[in-house]
Order: sequence, then C-alpha cells, then structure tokens
Amino acid sequence: MLGIRRKIMVAVDGSAVSDKAVKEAIWLAGTQEGSFKNKLIAVFIKNDRVRDYDDLFVRGIPIAEVRERWEKIIDHAFFVVRKLAAEKGVELEEVVAEGEPASRIVALAQKYDVDLLVIGSTGKGSMKRAFLGSVSAEVIERAGCGVYVVRA
Ligand SMILES: Nc1ncnc2c1ncn2[C@@H]1O[C@H](COP(=O)(O)OP(=O)(O)O)[C@@H](O)[C@H]1O
Ligand SMILES: [Mg+2]
Repeated sequence: MLGIRRKIMVAVDGSAVSDKAVKEAIWLAGTQEGSFKNKLIAVFIKNDRVRDYDDLFVRGIPIAEVRERWEKIIDHAFFVVRKLAAEKGVELEEVVAEGEPASRIVALAQKYDVDLLVIGSTGKGSMKRAFLGSVSAEVIERAGCGVYVVRA
C-alpha cells in the first residue's frame, strides 16, 4: 500500500531457493520510493547443522578458523541480497543470530516488527521430495506476521 513505509524481512541460508526469495523480497521492497521507501532486513541464523555446509566445514579445526569459515558462509548467504539491494537502491540491514533457525526467525520478525516475512519453500537440505523444509514449515506455522513463501 502506498504512503506507508514497510519493513520486509527475508530469511537467507545461501541456497538457490533463498536467492530466489531474495529476488522477490527486493522486488517487493523496491516498489516504493522517497520517504516511503521500504526497508529490507535479511537474516541468517547460524545453527549447528554443520552438514548443511559440509563443503566448507571440516571437523576438529581451531576456533579461529571456525570463525573464519563462518564469516565465509555468512558472506555467501548475504552475497545476492547485498548485490541486488545495492543495484536497486533498497535499504538493507543484515542480521546474524545463533540458534534454532525457525524459532529465531519468528522471534526476529517480531522484534523488528516486520510487515512481511519472505522465505524459500526449501533450502540447503537434501530432502527435495518435501514441498516445505522444516524451517519454512515451522516459520509459517508460528510467525505472527504474513509469510510469503517463494517456491523452489
Ligand atoms: N539458517 C537459516 N537462516 C535463515 N534462513 C533460513 C535458514 N535455514 C533456512 N532458512 C530459510 O528457510 C527456507 C527453507 O529452508 P529449510 O526449511 O531449511 O529447507 P531444507 O530442508 O530444504 O533445508 C530457506 O530458503 C531460507 O529462506
Ligand atoms: Mg535447511
């Protein structure tokens, strides 16, 4: 709706589906200009599901290196949203939190009082048979705001 500055949150995990969700979120955020310009908040949750990032992670490495690897994972997760936000002039805030992704995403959407939460139907998991991943399913069920699910 025109005349209202909206806050849109997009949940990113570095997967192709979350990149697709980012494109939709950028498009939604970019629909208003000037003082009613919308704000986009991209969130990434560091969880202990290291196997999602097996290609980057090796077990038993020193903590400094673990941090460095997380930095790379985070940079990768935010890469597309940073690029598109810069290209389209969308105001972007990045949030990194730790814990169980679905409950953290729901809590952050509430904390930032967002108008809409954009999420991919699936993500980095390998259960491609399912229409919804475990994170998206729980977010849809528990979110206090509207959820826009972008299909894989
Ligand atoms: N750790 C995370 N941080 C932020 N968003 C996430 C995270 N994991 C998943 N998501 C969001 O949830 C969507 C669905 O992912 P998920 O339910 O985990 O499916 P899958 O089981 O295929 O990994 C992703 O496209 C992304 O938008
Ligand atoms: Mg996942």
